[in-house]
Amino acid sequence: MTSSLGPDHPAHRLADSAYLRACRSEPASHVPVWFQRQAGRSLPEYMALRREGSILDTLRLPDVSAQITLQPIRRYGVDAAILYSDIVVPAECIGFGVDVKPGVGPVIEKPFRSKADLQRLRPLEPDVDTAHVLETIRIVVQELEVPLIGFAGAPFTVASYLIEGKPSRDYANTKALMLEDVSLWHELMNRLTDLAIASLRSQVEAGASALQLFDSWAGTLSSADYREYVMPHSSRVLTEVADLGVPRAHFGVGTGELLDQFATAGADVVGVDWRIPLDEARRRTGGAVALQGNLDPAVCLASWDHVAERVRAVLASNHSHPGHVFNLGHGVLPQTDPAILEQVVELVHAEGRTDGG
Ligand code: CP3
Repeated sequence: MTSSLGPDHPAHRLADSAYLRACRSEPASHVPVWFQRQAGRSLPEYMALRREGSILDTLRLPDVSAQITLQPIRRYGVDAAILYSDIVVPAECIGFGVDVKPGVGPVIEKPFRSKADLQRLRPLEPDVDTAHVLETIRIVVQELEVPLIGFAGAPFTVASYLIEGKPSRDYANTKALMLEDVSLWHELMNRLTDLAIASLRSQVEAGASALQLFDSWAGTLSSADYREYVMPHSSRVLTEVADLGVPRAHFGVGTGELLDQFATAGADVVGVDWRIPLDEARRRTGGAVALQGNLDPAVCLASWDHVAERVRAVLASNHSHPGHVFNLGHGVLPQTDPAILEQVVELVHAEGRTDGG
């Protein structure tokens, strides 16, 4: 691994972990597994630690956030941790006026509307603005024996929150702005790209051993619009963190028609939702990247026999390819029984094999 990180960085110590090997498409002792949204939401021990009010307040308590990050490692035995934080944190920390309402998601006091709003998006100074996030990472990596995944929202998905002002179904205001004022759109995307880069770099420097760029809602775009308005910015995020030498994953929901572009944007790992099988995703990504996925999270609400059958189907559709990180196609649903996820991890570890592993 070529890396600009110091010799004591956890990425070196954990370089041969199953998760980091799979990200590099190298055979490992077992197929690694972690779950998107494994931290928070469904664990009773999370409910016990979580205070009233916004997740943003809990995130300002590094000791508590570190424990929440570690809970799913202890409970499930997953192969990677994901930082307990949120994609709107950098925007909130530079004072854009963001809240995260329990049960709703991010809401914006004054949504992004015009050129004047650009001044509300100054550059991120991670050591000052997100000192609490970096402190959480330092605490976590001291206790952790598997890699920690740092993350950022991709420019499009963050823009969709800033523009819509709340979770949206149709992204109408976002798409209208993109078409009506192309130069403002690209200026906004440039600012959000810089925000993501600064945040990701600081998370890796603080101890994260891998990165994930969440473009959760990119699947709402046509392939042509994605190519013109979004891909260059996501690609800049991924390439400007390449020198860190840690694996970069790129995830979105409903991105079956965008997988060819996701595979060439600069990521080492591409997330796949449950809509297409992994062998088809591998065909669409040209075999150039590792794949992450892709059990339908809703399947985990069914009884174990059904879950086991679907877990085995995901493993089968990977055909023992070394570049597979088992995951859900999207996040853990809050009503999921943690015992089912424990069993999923056991089954993947017992039966998931990659060539030469
Ligand atoms: O395990 C983890 O995923 C760790 C931490 C994490 C959170 N948000 C904590 C959170 C991560 C990686 C995110 C990323 C995130 N946030 C994404 C990308 C991933 C995805 O799921 O597509 C997106 C789109 C957001 C925006 C967001 N934040 C939404 C849509 C919601 C509400 C939805 C819900 O399930 O409640 C949030 C709130 C949020 N972020 C919660 C948590 C644990 C729940 C709120 C709470 O406890 O108050």
